[in-house]
Amino acid sequence: MSSPGRRGGLWGTRFGFYLAAIGSAFGLGNLWRFPYVTVENGGGAFVLLYVLFAISLGLPLLIGELMLGKLTRRSAVSACHEVRVTAAPQSMSGQAAVGQKSPRGQLAGIGIFAVLTCLMLLSYYAVISGWVLHFLMQLSLGHLVTGAYDAEASLHVLHENGWLQMALTSVHLLISLIIVAKGVQEGMEKWVSNAMPVFVVLLVVLMTKSLSLPTAAGALRFLFYPDFSRLNGYSMLHAIGHVFFTLSVGFGTMVTFGSYLNQQTHIASAGFRVTAMDTLISLFAGLLIFPLLGASSLQAAGPELLFQTLPRLLSSLDNGFIFGFAFFLCLYLAALGASIGLLESLVANVLDLTGMRRPVATWLTGFAAFLFASLPALSTSVLKNVTFQGHGLLEILDNVLVNVFLPLAGLGLAYVVLKRLKAEKIESEFINDDSIATRKLYSHWLFVMRWLAPGTILCAFVLAAITLVRSLLH
Ligand code: PFF
Repeated sequence: MSSPGRRGGLWGTRFGFYLAAIGSAFGLGNLWRFPYVTVENGGGAFVLLYVLFAISLGLPLLIGELMLGKLTRRSAVSACHEVRVTAAPQSMSGQAAVGQKSPRGQLAGIGIFAVLTCLMLLSYYAVISGWVLHFLMQLSLGHLVTGAYDAEASLHVLHENGWLQMALTSVHLLISLIIVAKGVQEGMEKWVSNAMPVFVVLLVVLMTKSLSLPTAAGALRFLFYPDFSRLNGYSMLHAIGHVFFTLSVGFGTMVTFGSYLNQQTHIASAGFRVTAMDTLISLFAGLLIFPLLGASSLQAAGPELLFQTLPRLLSSLDNGFIFGFAFFLCLYLAALGASIGLLESLVANVLDLTGMRRPVATWLTGFAAFLFASLPALSTSVLKNVTFQGHGLLEILDNVLVNVFLPLAGLGLAYVVLKRLKAEKIESEFINDDSIATRKLYSHWLFVMRWLAPGTILCAFVLAAITLVRSLLH
């Protein structure tokens, strides 16, 4: 059996796990993606859908992934099907946790699909993180050298120069690789323990400042007043995809994180805390960003929303430089924490499958991510003619990966949990003797895993497909 030790150990503390899971759940999804998807889907009604799906679908599937990792002590591909393992894996208590063994490769395909989705997402994630680095540097240089900062010119330079984007992407990947190469406790856990407090303080200070702007009332209305007529045929799928993205479900990362958990950690409570914290911070992020964006930008959306509108607005504020610098620093810390999570999970899969040394596996994975990243990085320059219905390559990638691949991978992993783990093990892992609630919730959780999640996702796919066909015919 491959022990967690071979991959760099368990979390040092339970708190370390929470920091890592929340640190990686909270990322560009909350600060960059949430605003533009919310604008595209009309505001408050979409936010309501998002919260609803986070609780009813995201949380149960997140618990399933953590459970798969904790019970098998493996990352996604090997947990779905032990490729190089001869003996049935043991849980930490020493009892065999795995039910029937599937024929070789049958379920492993699901793990491979999740991990490839994770790799592609890391690639475009690294490109956007490179944009954040660029704005952070331009803002500082502009302020220090000329005392002013030209937001439009910064974005233009970035757009026109795909190779600059590749360079920034590689800097970001390099920072992430150095941290992940150190192992779970010394790398990821230590990094998030240091960065999270800074991040939370920045977020709260920025949010307070943002809510004091005259635009705050309009932003609150946009964010929380549910006008259902503004939803469209894609909104349900977009809400589900975004829930998966922001909670890190469907990537296989939570399987890896679960595999580092110690035996005492209770999975259902852990899943609940991570979901509650991430959803809360997402709403905080909305409160920070929407007053800044103001009414004027609530019509136009797209991945560039944050980078187009925000820097321009920041320069018009008193102390705009400090505010802008703090904002992009906050954004970069979030992006780095999440990238480390994505990379850690990919590396854990490579380690489980090959038994390579961690530094070698880390650098190889980073190189693969860099190669994939060339597509989104060149999407605004060399590849700018690759479009579909007016959307560029980066947007198409984001749409397909988040709204199609993640829900499918998430469902696949839920299927593996139910199919591959022993029913009595699942039950005893879910139910906490100290909590009557978990006993009551167990049958609901099973119902979501078996029926509600596949049914809802199917509905969302059908609705989106009808809308797409209609728009193509018009
Ligand atoms: N949840 C992150 C976000 O909202 O930006 C994306 C992500 C990070 C997914 C880390 C998976 C992961 F392991």
